[in-house]
Amino acid sequence: QALALKSADTSLDGFPHYLIKEIHEQPRVLERIIREHPAQARELAELISRSYGTFLVGCGTAGYAALAGSYLFSRIARRHVNSVVASEFKYQEHFLTERSLVIALSQSGETVDVIEAVLAAKRRGARVAALVNVTGSTLDRLADFTLPLLAGPEQSVLSTKAYTAKLALLLLTAHILNGSEHVGLDLLWRAVDGMVRALTPDFQDRVKAVADRLADHQHCFVIGRGLSYPTALEAALKIKEVSYLHAEGFPGGELKHGVIALVEPGVPCFVFSPLDETRADILSGAMELQSRGGWIIGVSPEDEAVFDVHLPVAEVGDASPLVNVIPAQLLGYYLAVRKGLDPDKPRNLAKSVTVK
Ligand code: AGP
Repeated sequence: QALALKSADTSLDGFPHYLIKEIHEQPRVLERIIREHPAQARELAELISRSYGTFLVGCGTAGYAALAGSYLFSRIARRHVNSVVASEFKYQEHFLTERSLVIALSQSGETVDVIEAVLAAKRRGARVAALVNVTGSTLDRLADFTLPLLAGPEQSVLSTKAYTAKLALLLLTAHILNGSEHVGLDLLWRAVDGMVRALTPDFQDRVKAVADRLADHQHCFVIGRGLSYPTALEAALKIKEVSYLHAEGFPGGELKHGVIALVEPGVPCFVFSPLDETRADILSGAMELQSRGGWIIGVSPEDEAVFDVHLPVAEVGDASPLVNVIPAQLLGYYLAVRKGLDPDKPRNLAKSVTVK
């Protein structure tokens, strides 16, 4: 028993939990992807270029990576790549043909909804590619082509390094499709630096201070536009699934279509505001929230008067989803620890949803 515990402790490499260890592994995982993946990403780009209709499918965090992918292919390669939540895909796959390509995103490669989506696609003769972290998994075996995530074992129920690995591969593939592979690689190197800066003790102290303030709240809102919209959804999932605080992510443009009715004085509102084309509009959304009493936490390269708290992140262009998610991952972790919860095994959740 002592030996088993010791080996388990060793796999934590001195970290108190797998979640915080795996959050810290992300810069190394990204470096490995940059160094080892271009050839296989080129194959994926080739499959996309030959397809007539490409669909990214995934669940939970992987579903948000799929959504981010649709923005990346549009912005970088001017290519329309659909993203669909895997559990909904089987209700809208009637138009698939043998020229379609379904790209399954899954850390475990065993998520039943993704497997069902892939089987539905194969029944229609579509090609199937998979971005998975487990070689030999069901999805790896079902796919015509697999692009391994190379993220290493992800033991915490929360998906962190597998998420940023998927984003990196989708961004790189979009740049290869666009004939700008070197631009994509340079951008990912900038993201490595941005990740490292978001993992410094000083930055983590800022996140811990936000966690201390958030711990007494029941609700929080997370907004983003464009590429920051999937980031807002993933950030909300990280917070809610490990701290049980109700966090809702939504597109910044949707505030006045109902959501803003929920804002009460003091309610925490996260605003993802990279220095891109969404900045002016997302900041005006932040002012709308603040004028109704929202407590504004700005995740941004530059501080703004509207931010009650500023979490300074690096400006990394289209790689912003890889860096901007780290404050949310850390926040979820520190909230769970502060509330005496298990950061690696949240209630009711499994690492892989293999049954419906
Ligand atoms: C993410 O933190 C959750 N654990 C969950 O949403 C997960 O992303 C989802 O179940 C998909 O898992 P997969 O990547 O193994 O398919």
